[in-house]
Amino acid sequence: MPSFDASPLIADRRSLLDTRQLKADDFSSIFATADRLAAMGQRFGNFYNPRESSENSKSLAERTPRLIACLFFEASTRTKLSFQAAAYRLGHRVLEMDAGSGSSMAKGETEYDTILNVMAMGPDLLVIRSNKSREVDELLPKLKVPVISAGTGTQAHPTQALLDAYTICRERGSLKGQRVLIVGDIRHSRVARSNFDVLSRLGAEIAVCGPESLIPEASEIPGIRVFANLDEAMAWPTVFMGLRIQFERHDSAELKSAVDEYHMRFGLNRERLKKLSQDAIIMHPGPINHGVEFSMDVTKDPRSRVLAQVANGVLIRAALLARILGAGEGSAER
Ligand code: CP
Repeated sequence: MPSFDASPLIADRRSLLDTRQLKADDFSSIFATADRLAAMGQRFGNFYNPRESSENSKSLAERTPRLIACLFFEASTRTKLSFQAAAYRLGHRVLEMDAGSGSSMAKGETEYDTILNVMAMGPDLLVIRSNKSREVDELLPKLKVPVISAGTGTQAHPTQALLDAYTICRERGSLKGQRVLIVGDIRHSRVARSNFDVLSRLGAEIAVCGPESLIPEASEIPGIRVFANLDEAMAWPTVFMGLRIQFERHDSAELKSAVDEYHMRFGLNRERLKKLSQDAIIMHPGPINHGVEFSMDVTKDPRSRVLAQVANGVLIRAALLARILGAGEGSAER
């Protein structure tokens, strides 16, 4: 795994490629910015005050809209659209490109060449979801503009972990004393990796549960409890976090034939919901495979915070953009 230690830190208004770059103070200041943005969004509909209309008091985003390039080399709904929503609500502009048939990647252009070509168009910040490759990993920290990872292979999903932690903090005030049970395909999950780092540093206890083949070796996840049997784990968590089975990252034919058994052993459904504390909350980064990790009952349960996670995702991504690009006076950034 490459080190991102050489990357500039968010505290210096630069890139965010992995949560391990963040210092303890960064978490609280990002969350405080997100809180201020939430208040502004409620008051003004956008993340700045439109009534401050004189040239001097307009938000920086209004005076100097920045160009944010969003490059998604893997499919996305929540992360891509919430970065766009965040950028527009701050008054910025977005260039957007997917790896699908509408781009020259369909003609064989590489991720590396695509990034260099988009950089030649002069964006002020790059948001990128990439398959992990050494060439791209080495390129990103050298770019002359800040880069935010929107998900890197199986390695890191920093903004997802931040929005997950923020969602729990908004519910509970703090991560301290929370017991977070993460269930599913831990081995292939960048969400789990980033959450292990953020949630544990903020004081939560973490446990995982899933088929043996999808749980990393104990030496790879020090300090994390492993439950082999979900029914025995159900009374433990204050936060139940389901993870998607990532069919695209393993031999899907074999796994697809076993989804019923998976759901029986590790799926959250009406019966298991009864064993979960009434005070617990249920989370899932999405997309959900209904009938696999969650039955249809789960997101309708009053304990579900799945859509709150999505709403908080806009706030966290806007907070990062505001902190990195600046957001002007009367704005959320302090
Ligand atoms: N949670 C998440 O990364 O969802 P998307 O793949 O839809 O962006």
